[in-house]
Amino acid sequence: MSNDYPSPQDVLKQALTSHDAVTISFSGAEDVVLIDMACNISDAVDVFCLDTGRLHPETYRYIERVRDYYGIEISLLSPDPAALQALVKGKGLFSFYEDGHQECCGIRKIEPLTRHLVNYDAWITGQRQDQSPTRSALPQRQVDTAFSDDRRDLIKYNPLSAWSSARVWQYIRGNDVPYNELHDQGFVSIGCEPCTRRIGPNEHERAGRWWWEEATKRECGLHVINLDNDSAAGGTS
Ligand code: ADX
Ligand code: SF4
Repeated sequence: MSNDYPSPQDVLKQALTSHDAVTISFSGAEDVVLIDMACNISDAVDVFCLDTGRLHPETYRYIERVRDYYGIEISLLSPDPAALQALVKGKGLFSFYEDGHQECCGIRKIEPLTRHLVNYDAWITGQRQDQSPTRSALPQRQVDTAFSDDRRDLIKYNPLSAWSSARVWQYIRGNDVPYNELHDQGFVSIGCEPCTRRIGPNEHERAGRWWWEEATKRECGLHVINLDNDSAAGGTS
């Protein structure tokens, strides 16, 4: 990690202590290190997972393992039933292979996330700069213009932004952190089952995500500000 960056633990501590309401996003993958670090800082961590209904069975089992291991509550956020029913009725279960992932992600992820975040001043993600060309300028702290409103600026913390994948795994192994069994089966970046595949040697870690779409556009809307260079540059560290 670059010495210019505060440690993830310091960023997390700042995030957890400077806001009235802060929530940690957990995707069911190696971003579990945030939960591990947060549980060493605070007894009252607020964790959520966007339950798209399309996660791997292994991921659902893993979320439960994490809940038990750390003795924490994890909010599973479900899509709006009417919007989901209309999508599936009209376009079926795999429309994203035909017309892109934005519509399905919009219903299964973005709308539930928007509903959740209105209750918070800040949120914390496990994004890293080395994950994608869209994240190469990712700061550790930024104003999330996509989910802010007239009432308040929503602050988004990315404590792991300067960590490499290797550093994350060093932490997982070194601290006996539970991890998703899919990582032992060739999966690196893990999202929904129909939109995630194994990668081969020397493939980039996100090559297995929405592989039928262009790499520079592979953000589902959770992190849409990464596609806006101005707001990425406006972050701190
Ligand atoms: S994604 O936008 O392309 O799906 P990615 O899988 O790289 O994101 O994960 C980056 C970060 O986004 C995770 O570390 C986590 O903070 C958040 N995230 C992604 N998927 C979810 C999810 N299903 N539930 C909660 N947070 C998520
Ligand atoms: Fe739908 Fe795929 Fe997005 Fe999951 S990742 S919400 S299945 S388009």
